[in-house]
Amino acid sequence: MVSRMADAICFTLNGAPVEIAGLSPMTTLLDWLREHRGLKGTKEGCAEGDCGACTVALERADGRHEAMNACIAMLGQVDGQSIRTVEGLLGKDGAPHPVQRALAEADATQCGFCTPGFVMAAYAFAAGGEPPELETIHDALAGNLCRCTGYRPIIDAMKKVAGLATEPAAPPPARTMSPVFENTFFAPRSLAELVALRARHPEALLLAGGTDLGLLASRARQPPQVVIHVAHVPELNTIDAGKQRVTFGAAVTYAHAMPTLVEAYPPLRTYLARLGSRQIRTLGTIGGNLGNASPIGDMPPVLLALETKVKLASPRGARELPLEQFFLGYRKTALAPDEAIESFSLPRLQPGETFHCDKVSKRRDQDISTVAGAYRIRLKNGRIEDARLAFGGMAATPKRASRAEAALLNDGFEAARTALAQDFQPLDDWRGSAAYRLQVAANLLRRLELRLAEPQRPVEVEAL
Ligand SMILES: Cc1cc2nc3c(=O)[nH]c(=O)nc-3n(C[C@H](O)[C@H](O)[C@H](O)COP(=O)(O)OP(=O)(O)OC[C@H]3O[C@@H](n4cnc5c(N)ncnc54)[C@H](O)[C@@H]3O)c2cc1C
Ligand code: FES
Ligand code: FES
Repeated sequence: MVSRMADAICFTLNGAPVEIAGLSPMTTLLDWLREHRGLKGTKEGCAEGDCGACTVALERADGRHEAMNACIAMLGQVDGQSIRTVEGLLGKDGAPHPVQRALAEADATQCGFCTPGFVMAAYAFAAGGEPPELETIHDALAGNLCRCTGYRPIIDAMKKVAGLATEPAAPPPARTMSPVFENTFFAPRSLAELVALRARHPEALLLAGGTDLGLLASRARQPPQVVIHVAHVPELNTIDAGKQRVTFGAAVTYAHAMPTLVEAYPPLRTYLARLGSRQIRTLGTIGGNLGNASPIGDMPPVLLALETKVKLASPRGARELPLEQFFLGYRKTALAPDEAIESFSLPRLQPGETFHCDKVSKRRDQDISTVAGAYRIRLKNGRIEDARLAFGGMAATPKRASRAEAALLNDGFEAARTALAQDFQPLDDWRGSAAYRLQVAANLLRRLELRLAEPQRPVEVEAL
């Protein structure tokens, strides 16, 4: 049980313990590093998770190093974690780290503003022991922008740092109790505690990775008043890759979920690589994507097409509902005020079933979808026996195209494309007009038709 009114925020910074008391736990990690700790190496560019200038490394207890954005992470979130900043790379004699040297020797820095962020992204990449392939390097750098646009030498440096030995991850401080910071930031350590807190604090926002909510603290400068941080609830962090279904706790991060998701549904490999950046996927969760209920979130169409069930927990017990019943209206969900998403569960593909997905956005990397489509098709003797087609960006909620599905089964793809206009009155905004979105969705169905006609073609999602 939560037993104290206010605890100090404890974490490991560059290998040394830190304890912070008397400061709002909603202070961003970036503000604290720069304004309170005087560590100005970590930069602020956009303050919204887009540019990577604020990249630091999160050193996981299992030894992994993951890049994350300090600008949208709140201090309370790093309690019990181990963080390394660019200052933590220098040797005792102040000598640059081999990763820093590689960037300097490749002339990979011009004005230098973005450089600490690139250094930390490169450091996490090197620590991961990944191969120096262009695709992997691209993925590792997709969350970092350089206004001087010196990408070629940065890529050259990345090829040199691949596989470089890095510092062993510094251990995070041990936490045995569930902390409460300033009586506004609750960090339960069990599901029972989470639901009890939820009932006791209906005014609190649930915080998972904070890649949506953190923008309130960073860009909007209006941090939430009270939060319940669900990231350390063990029941929300499990993955069960069963023979029939795969089930994920709501607080499982994208980075953690990806291997299992990609194994079960291979086209998600390239789709998920375009969801935010590595920095975003380090903390961001699929539970948060569902809870956010954005009509242009990337996971809802995928999960709708895959017939996902979502489990909601409250002091009254748990209930499970099909994901279709979860989205009620624009950013409105079926969650009762005392409920939290506990997990979501997807059936594995059955013989004869294929799955495909597409993301169309203005920019390839680090961009929100204009339209996202996901489709599960069951074929028998070359005929489509069942189809689940789901889209994001086409209505106030992520939604299945039920009329197009029926038309596809009865009359084929041409009829399905026409029926889309009955399913959707798309959003009309700066990302795309309603007419454009309708045309894109129809084109995606044409693409699906071609994929099914040529099953030997690779099923990976190409950049659109
Ligand atoms: C730079 C950047 C790029 C992004 N790119 C993409 C993208 O390409 N595609 C995309 O879809 N999204 C993108 N996002 C949005 C965001 O990363 C995702 O929506 C992410 O999945 C949110 O997860 P989170 O854990 O960070 O959520 P949080 O910010 O912690 O929470 C989001 C919402 O979910 C609620 N919530 C969290 N956990 C629970 C729970 N267990 N039960 C009930 N409610 C809960 C919260 O109360 C809040 O309303 C991007 C964000 C940024 C900053
Ligand atoms: S300051 Fe731009 S991502 Fe954090
Ligand atoms: S070197 Fe100037 S912003 Fe990258």
